[in-house]
Amino acid sequence: MAEFSLPANSRIRGGGKSYPAPAGAVRVKTFKIYRWSPDDGANPRYDSYTLDLDQCGPMVLDALIKIKGEVDPTLTFRRSCREGICGSCAMNIDGTNTLACTMAIEDVKGDIRITPLPHMEVVKDLVPDMTHFYAQYASIKPWLQTVTPTPALAERYQSVEDRAELDGLYECILCACCSTSCPSYWWNSDKFLGPAILLQAYRWLADSRDEMKGERLDALEDPFRLYRCHTIMNCANVCPKGLNPAKAIAEIKKMMVERAV
Ligand code: SF4
Ligand code: SF4
Ligand code: FES
Repeated sequence: MAEFSLPANSRIRGGGKSYPAPAGAVRVKTFKIYRWSPDDGANPRYDSYTLDLDQCGPMVLDALIKIKGEVDPTLTFRRSCREGICGSCAMNIDGTNTLACTMAIEDVKGDIRITPLPHMEVVKDLVPDMTHFYAQYASIKPWLQTVTPTPALAERYQSVEDRAELDGLYECILCACCSTSCPSYWWNSDKFLGPAILLQAYRWLADSRDEMKGERLDALEDPFRLYRCHTIMNCANVCPKGLNPAKAIAEIKKMMVERAV
């Protein structure tokens, strides 16, 4: 299992706080959670929370919600759907970027160490700053672009076969697990779009209804935006939706070659 480095602004020094299991707990688990607040001037630390698993739901997100609700209300993290759909609970659990709501506690042996997604600035605790990631997403114009007039009283037709070309792409929930596990993105995220955004870019290049393929490829034709992918494959290994951004990137590179000949 790949071990990823800590968030960009982390320098963990000194011990954190420790919250013991409730009296009488039999099945216990300790969660070591990255803590950092911009408000107190303190260095990042790990706090330890030991829970009674007989009083907790099965997923890591259940544990975080229990800690926040019953042990330490200062713990900060994002979540919404708790169904693996919104992507907001993405974090690094036991060394792997994944979704806290779909990661079972019992699938991690020993203590569970939780940090924010790696190599992102941290807003607070487990909340990474997604501003740059979303700006990169907006830069690929993630909507259907057409030049022909919209058909009167009809939708734009797409065959079943053409619609199937979007399978493996439309399911992306923009959780950023892939981009923040990509070494090329760690070092060049100011210029390289990274696997998540490139998979989204290909989702529109592969859409038979889109009429701006040339312009979309022009926008990606750059030594950094697309070509910093070195096929290391971390992205495909971590995607919690089972998608393969590296394959989508390879398809874009193929389109670049095909239009050049
Ligand atoms: S490709 Fe997978 S890991 Fe990457 S943003 Fe989409 S859902 Fe998340
Ligand atoms: S295959 Fe490309 S995008 Fe995916 S992790 Fe490797 S370098 Fe990053
Ligand atoms: S809470 Fe929505 S993906 Fe986990």
